[in-house]
Amino acid sequence: MIPAERVIVALDVPTVDRASALLDQVPQAVFWKVGLELFVSAGATILTELKMRQKRIFLDLKFHDIPNTVAGACHAAATYGVDLITLHGAAGKTALQAAQMAAIAGAASAGYAAPKLLAITLLTSLSQRDLAFDLKIPLELPEYVLHMAMLAQESGLAGVVCSPQEATQLRQVCGHDFVLVCPGVRPSWATAQDQQRVMTPAAAMRAGASYLVIGRPITAATQPSEAFQRICDEIAGVP
Ligand code: C5P
Repeated sequence: MIPAERVIVALDVPTVDRASALLDQVPQAVFWKVGLELFVSAGATILTELKMRQKRIFLDLKFHDIPNTVAGACHAAATYGVDLITLHGAAGKTALQAAQMAAIAGAASAGYAAPKLLAITLLTSLSQRDLAFDLKIPLELPEYVLHMAMLAQESGLAGVVCSPQEATQLRQVCGHDFVLVCPGVRPSWATAQDQQRVMTPAAAMRAGASYLVIGRPITAATQPSEAFQRICDEIAGVP
């Protein structure tokens, strides 16, 4: 894969018009993330727009429901030809397996290749304290993340979304082919904003990331296309 295919740009805007403007500003970006804000505002129109422009789509809606409902959502999402879909690992093995089968069937019904399903192991906004006191999960945070990644893998999912801090261990345990999608990435020339534990693009790739999800360092830059290019150049040097 060329570097530009490994950088997923987050379309964190509320309208299709604003999203289209960003797509125009960074024409060389091939992979774009549609999250809850844009999808709830714009609906599937944004997916059609991205497909028309021949872009790849990371549909990050983090499904979390009973198996039948999660499977239905993944079936529907797959009919748009999206490439990556997220769902919470905490939905359980039956839901993950049902989602995987439904995504394959949905994509096939529309003539697309099956999307890769990615589990959310634990939201990175949750701390060790939240895990222990609020969720009453008696594991250390890295141990819980690893357990959820293994559950996802056993359930037949392609990979997980994880912090670059977790990538090294997950890569070692889950193997070379497991997909690790990492947000929380900041080039040395960008500000961290609200991201707490950041890594540079090159460090995240070295840690084992398959894809980087990067928003504001590109989308809020004065020259978004140049910012995207700088990131691609940085990761091109990683063996
Ligand atoms: O602008 P920034 O680079 O911080 O955007 C990162 C993107 O990755 C946002 O769309 C954010 O919702 C997403 N994300 C994240 N941390 C997670 C999961 C997703 O920052 N744990």
